[in-house]
Amino acid sequence: MTDPKILTTADGIPVGDNQNSLTAGERGPVLMQDFHLMEKLAHFNRERIPERVVHAKGAAAFGKFTVTQDITRYSKAKVFAEIGQETPVLLRFSTVGGEKGSADAERDPRGFAVKFYTEEGNWDLAGNNTPVFFIRDPLKFPDFVHTQKRNPQTNCKDANAMWDFWSLSPESLHQVTILFSDRGTPKTYRHMNGYGSHTFSLINAQGERFWCKFQFKTIQGIENFTAEEAIRIKGEDPDHATRDLFEAIASENYPQWRVCIQIMTEAQAANHPDNPFDLTKVWKHSEYPLIDVGILELNRNPQNYFAEVEQSAFSPSNVVPGISFSPDKVLQARIISYPDAQRYRIGANYQQLPVNQPKCPVMHYQRDGAMALGNNAGNTPNYEPNSNEDTPKENCVYAEPALNLGHVKADRYDHRPGNDDYTQAGELYRLMKPDQQERLIQNIVGSLSQARSDLQMRQLCHFFRADMNYGQRVAEGLGIEIDPSMISKST
Ligand code: HEM
Repeated sequence: MTDPKILTTADGIPVGDNQNSLTAGERGPVLMQDFHLMEKLAHFNRERIPERVVHAKGAAAFGKFTVTQDITRYSKAKVFAEIGQETPVLLRFSTVGGEKGSADAERDPRGFAVKFYTEEGNWDLAGNNTPVFFIRDPLKFPDFVHTQKRNPQTNCKDANAMWDFWSLSPESLHQVTILFSDRGTPKTYRHMNGYGSHTFSLINAQGERFWCKFQFKTIQGIENFTAEEAIRIKGEDPDHATRDLFEAIASENYPQWRVCIQIMTEAQAANHPDNPFDLTKVWKHSEYPLIDVGILELNRNPQNYFAEVEQSAFSPSNVVPGISFSPDKVLQARIISYPDAQRYRIGANYQQLPVNQPKCPVMHYQRDGAMALGNNAGNTPNYEPNSNEDTPKENCVYAEPALNLGHVKADRYDHRPGNDDYTQAGELYRLMKPDQQERLIQNIVGSLSQARSDLQMRQLCHFFRADMNYGQRVAEGLGIEIDPSMISKST
């Protein structure tokens, strides 16, 4: 056995010289037989995998989720089974639009993706630090993301593209109002809330279904940068939030979040004034109060960023018995999109990598593919049904109760008519204190003033429709005189 302090090749062959290539003569060309040199260069050329198409810049840590309240009346999920029960977690924070090397302090939503390694498989909640999103129809996602990325010609960020899309998509106004408010630039990843955002479902042991939203309330308190601070920090330390998370955990200052749910019964959903599955809307706390479930704590830094963070894979398709989906169209598209992205980004067997591996037995008939790790299920059958009694079989106790959709037709339904894109955005504006409103206006004006004047006018109408004062102040900031009586009530 080679002494572990002796350098080897990737095949374990001891290396005699790692300083000098093998050459024909002292000044001569390199010999092809220097396989150690070839291996080093060839592997180096393959060090990069594609960055995530969105949420490329991120930081993560491990920790635990501890149940503090009994919610078994809503869900039979093993992760909620008993007060005091602990489940290991991985939480990856991210910005959305920037590349892997972009600054942490950008004005952007923040990703808040949690992997719960439960005893019945991995449950992933890949949410954001905002309760709503820019779109309510997944068909618009690639177009929307293009407007947040670089212009195809200039390769620069493009205020026209952003405001062109937003002003043509008033369903974005609620999220735009959050994005340009103080919460658009969180001070650190520790000082912000997380939201599952979508409506999900919980299913109890009796097979009853409840609609549910998940929220993570920061125990550190909400803290945000001012726009000026964010700009300064971007220059001083582009990795400030990544560093903050790592250093807090390294110094045993473990960040925590209260894990809460909101519950809506199927009967309440039938009478809810908005579509309860619309991702651009919140459920009011006054009607659907927060119910505490437990505490999430981060207490262990990854040892290796690439292995444990870059290769980590979160997917809304990962729900466990007792937790499930809802008819939210965006959620449905995400169920397909994430594993597809991960097969491309990491490889066909990405679930076998240690960070993604469940901490419970995995038993299926998928075999082979690039980088099949371990023994690839050895000599066991690779098909099902089979006559071998010892092989894994389905069990109907895990089947979900049917989802009653009534008498519906499959069609491409226009999501605009009857949808109110303005009331909640206006309410959020009026909820803000005068100084918060002032900063919101300044931030919007700072960005919108860089867009073309026709886009400014189109977007202004949306602010006016949400709240006359909101519109008036953005107009003033842009130096535009508007007669509010000219603003039509709808798009
Ligand atoms: C990452 C697609 C909406 C939160 C991603 C990735 C894709 C994607 C392809 C990269 C996955 C990977 O390579 O591992 C979509 C599509 C959406 C959508 C198609 C809508 C149609 C949303 C929404 C949220 C969200 C509404 C939050 C509520 C995230 C987060 C990540 C992510 C947090 C990063 C996960 C991580 O840390 O690895 N999204 N997304 N996305 N998305 Fe979405």
